Amino acid sequence: MKTTISVIKADVGSLVGHHIVPAPLLEIAEGSLSRAVDEGLISSFKVFHAGDDLELLMVHDRGERSREIHALAWKTFQEATEKAKELKLYGAGQDMLKNAFSGNIRGMGPGVAEMEIEERESDPIIVFAADKTSPGAFNYPLFRIFADPMNTAGLVIDSAMLDGFKFEVLDSKLNKRVVLQCPEEMYKLIGLIGTVSRYSISRIWRATDDQLCTVTSTTKLSLLAGKYIGKDDPVAVVRAQHGLPAVGEILAPFLHTYFVEGWMRGSHWGPLMPVSLRDSKCTAFDGPPRMVALGFQICNGRIASDKNNIPMVADLFDDPAFDLARQEAVKMATVFRRMGEFQPARLSEESMEYTMLPEILKTLKDRFKPT
Ligand code: F6R
Ligand code: MG
Ligand code: MG
Repeated sequence: MKTTISVIKADVGSLVGHHIVPAPLLEIAEGSLSRAVDEGLISSFKVFHAGDDLELLMVHDRGERSREIHALAWKTFQEATEKAKELKLYGAGQDMLKNAFSGNIRGMGPGVAEMEIEERESDPIIVFAADKTSPGAFNYPLFRIFADPMNTAGLVIDSAMLDGFKFEVLDSKLNKRVVLQCPEEMYKLIGLIGTVSRYSISRIWRATDDQLCTVTSTTKLSLLAGKYIGKDDPVAVVRAQHGLPAVGEILAPFLHTYFVEGWMRGSHWGPLMPVSLRDSKCTAFDGPPRMVALGFQICNGRIASDKNNIPMVADLFDDPAFDLARQEAVKMATVFRRMGEFQPARLSEESMEYTMLPEILKTLKDRFKPT
């Protein structure tokens, strides 16, 4: 039996600057996806938000890149945009780069991560969603989870994983992709994905049988629009257990913070903070960049649900085990903020989303003298 998990997200407007998606927008999305369940288009869903990004998690049987599913997401974001405009929310319709839907939501602004799976006897899934950062933010934890035996014990002690994993890496500059296998090509993989601004992991398969186990959204909004029009806050879908990394191994890299690109004006290095849905909101210096992790079980083509038909979804970072990472993130945030606009707090010139430098240089053009 084939089941598809689609996570499609967009920033269509938020309450008080780029802070959170307020209740009226979440209600619109819930209404729209409930109708889609009644019509039999999707089997179950969860609406949530990662900071100012409205996240639609949908489970269905229409496969990846389904026109109907993408149209549903687009229509939902349009409806929410209307409401955001009516309420004069900030950045209403920010990620809606096109006016008319053309069959596939990719390249139109919203971010997409989709995975079609052959349902196993039991299929635990984790969805990660981050705000104020970019797709490269997943490189480090995904490497730890699927290639680092110091993180994932299963790489050493579960024979299903002994052959390692294959990583598809996207070059956002040349719009090309390459597949590298670990452990054999580990150093080459790190060589690429260490450059988080350019390369991002887009898919991962188990090497023994090519079982797909991770997909991420890799949209680069600034590359799509040719200019900065919001950060490419990413999502990822990761499959767990029974010959794949365990849920606990998938969460282990988040015991500590690490640095990601994004934060204020998409132009700073910031410490990533794993948070519960309750704390999924950016504040200080529009951050620090945050990530939520939601876990659920796929059951006969749907999200396993309770007796009232409500999908059962675990808020995995809602746990004191991640307090240390959060404290580290706050500490690192203050260290970096003390540096103001001096590198390395600020991104390198070519990675900055906003920059005044060309204008500054223009005003100084005639004042620069040969040395
Ligand atoms: C970063 C982000 C915010 C804004 C910042 C300025 O991804 O969304 O940090 O860049 O608040 O926003 P504007 O230019 O809309 O005033
Ligand atoms: Mg925003
Ligand atoms: Mg955002």
